[in-house]
Amino acid sequence: MFQMLKTIIALLDKGDRIKAGLLLFPMLVAAIVDVIGIAFVMPFIVVVADPDAIQTHKKLLYFYQLSHASSPHRFLIIAGLVLFFVLVMANALGALNNWFMWKFMGKQESKISSRLLEKYLSHPYEFFLNQNTSALMKNIITETEVVSHGIIMYSMQLFTKLFAVVFIVLLLMIVNFKLAVFLSIIMGGVYGIIYAFIRKRLGRISVDMVTSQEARFQLLNESFGGVKEIKFLKLSRFFLNQFTRSTEKYTSSKARLQIISTMPKYILESIAFGGVFLIVIYMLAAQHSAATILPILGIYVFAGYRLLPALQTIFMILSSLKGGFASLDLVRHDLLTSLVINKENSMPSNKLSIQKTLQLNAIRFSYPNATCPIFSNFNFVVQANTTVGLVGTTGAGKTTLVDIILGMLSYQSGALVVDNLVINRDNLPNWQANIGYVPQQIFLLDNTIASNIAFGIEKENIDYAAVERAARIANLHDFIVKELPLQYQTVVGERGVRLSGGQRQRIGIARALYRDPGVLILDEATSSLDGITELAIMDAIHNLSHQKTIIIIAHRLTTLKECDVIYMMEKGKIVDTGKYESLMSANLEFQKMANMR
Ligand SMILES: Nc1ncnc2c1ncn2[C@@H]1O[C@H](COP(=O)(O)OP(=O)(O)OP(=O)(O)O)[C@@H](O)[C@H]1O
Ligand SMILES: [Mg+2]
Repeated sequence: MFQMLKTIIALLDKGDRIKAGLLLFPMLVAAIVDVIGIAFVMPFIVVVADPDAIQTHKKLLYFYQLSHASSPHRFLIIAGLVLFFVLVMANALGALNNWFMWKFMGKQESKISSRLLEKYLSHPYEFFLNQNTSALMKNIITETEVVSHGIIMYSMQLFTKLFAVVFIVLLLMIVNFKLAVFLSIIMGGVYGIIYAFIRKRLGRISVDMVTSQEARFQLLNESFGGVKEIKFLKLSRFFLNQFTRSTEKYTSSKARLQIISTMPKYILESIAFGGVFLIVIYMLAAQHSAATILPILGIYVFAGYRLLPALQTIFMILSSLKGGFASLDLVRHDLLTSLVINKENSMPSNKLSIQKTLQLNAIRFSYPNATCPIFSNFNFVVQANTTVGLVGTTGAGKTTLVDIILGMLSYQSGALVVDNLVINRDNLPNWQANIGYVPQQIFLLDNTIASNIAFGIEKENIDYAAVERAARIANLHDFIVKELPLQYQTVVGERGVRLSGGQRQRIGIARALYRDPGVLILDEATSSLDGITELAIMDAIHNLSHQKTIIIIAHRLTTLKECDVIYMMEKGKIVDTGKYESLMSANLEFQKMANMR
C-alpha cells in the first residue's frame, strides 16, 4: 500500500502533487460537515420524541437559549432548518470535490499518456526491434486509464472515505462508546477477513487483465494489418477465435474483479441492518424506554446511511487498487525506471555537410539478443559526391550497414567519421539532417501526397516548390498532375493502399529529396518499379551525381551501371569492389547476379 502511494506520488509532477494535496483539504472539510450533520440528528430526534427534554438536557438547553426560540416547537423548526442546511452543504461540498477530482483526473490521464508516448519515442531505434508495438499502444491507451482512474483517483477517494469513516466512528464513540467499539470490531473484522481471503486472487486477476488486453491489441493490429492475406487464405475465423479467447479472458477477469470488490456489500448490509435490530433488542433487554432507544437508533441508522456506503467504497477501492497493481507497475516501469534518453528534438537546420569522405572505421556491431555479430572490424569508405553501389545476397548486412551510417543503430565499437569528424551523440542530428533516406519499406501516412512528400511538416508550412521539384526527380509529377483527382492534395489511404507499390516507392524517393540533402541513400528504392520507370528515376538520380553523395543498394545490377564504385558484400564483409564493367569481367559471382536479372 505504501509502495503504491510512493509510486503514485512519483508519477505526478511537482505541481500536480501540490494540487492533489490541496484537493485533500476540501475533502476533509466535506467529511467534517458531513459528521456535523449526523451529530445533530440525535438531539433533533430527542426533542421530537420528547419536547420536555430541552429542559432536562444541559446541552439542549444551551442550544435552545442560543436559538432565542419562543417555544420548543419553534426551536424544532429552526433546528430542522439548520440541519437541512448542513446536509445540503455537505452534499454540495461533495459535488464540488467530485467536480475537482474528475477534472484533475482527466488532466492526469492525458499527461501520463503523452509522457509515456514521449518516453517510448525517445528510445533508440534498437528498443523497437525487440518490442511489439501493440503492447506499447495498449500501455498508452488502456494502462494509463487504469492508472489514472483506477488508481490515482481511487486512492484520493480512499482518503475522503477514510476521513468520513474515522469521523463517523468517533461520533458514534462519543454517543455510546462500547457499542461503537463493538460494531467497529465486527465490521472491521468482516472486511479484514474477506480482504485477506481475496488479496492473492486480485493480484492474479490484475496480471491476467494486462496480458489478455495486450493479446487483444496485438490481434487487432495483425488482423487489420494483414487483412489481404487473411482474407485470401480465409483466416478470418482463425483470428476471430483468438481474439474472442483473449477478449473473454479479459472481460471475465474484469467481471471477477467487480464481483469480488462489490460482494462484501451484501454481506455487510445484512450484518449492519441486522445489527440495528440487535441494538433494539439489546436496549430493550437492558430495560431502556423507547424514548432513549429512538435517538440512538436514529443516529445509527443515519450514520449507517453514511458509513456503509463509505465502507463499501473503501473496500471496492482497496480491491480495485490491488486489481490495478499490474498496470501501475507497468506504467511506473516504463515511465520512471527505463533509461533516460535525450529528448527527440526537431531536425536541426544546420546540416553537417560532407566535403571529403565518409568512413566507417573498425565497426563491430551485433543486434541486441543476436548470437553473433553482423560486423566485426568492418571498414568502409565513401568519397564525397560520388555514387556508390552496394550489392550482395539477401541477409548480407546491407540494410544494417546503411542503418549504421544513418545513426539508427549504435555499434559496439569503431567509429563513423565524416571528414575527420567523429559522429557522436551531439552532432548526429546534424549529420542526419543532411541525409535523404529511402528505406526498403516506405511508410505512408493516410494523408495527402504533398504531406507525404514533405512528411511531418504542418500543411501551411509545406514548401510546394520543393515538393514538386522532388516529385519531378522521382518521376512522379506527371502521374500526380494527370491522373490523381486532387493532384498533390489526393489522400493516399492507410499506408498508401490506394497507390501501387511503385507509386509508393516513388513517393519515398521524393520524400528523401524534399529537404535537398547532401547525402542520398536508397535501399532497394526502385525494386517495385518496371524497368522503364526505374531507368527514368535512375537517370534523374544520376543527374544529381557529383553534386550529392549517393549510396544505392540494389539487387537489379543494371541499376548500378553508372555508379563510380560498387561494393559486393557477403556475410558482413566486403568481398569485392570495382566499377560495373571490371566486376562484370572479373567476378564470377557478380556476373551470375547480373545475368539472373
Ligand atoms: N533486429 C534484428 N535482430 C537480429 N538480427 C537481425 C535483425 N535485423 C536483421 N537481422 C539479421 O541481420 C542480417 C543482416 O540483415 P540486413 O537486413 O542488413 O540484410 P540485407 O543485406 O539488407 O538483406 P536484404 O537484401 O534481404 O535486404 C540478417 O541475417 C538478419 O537476419
Ligand atoms: Mg535490406
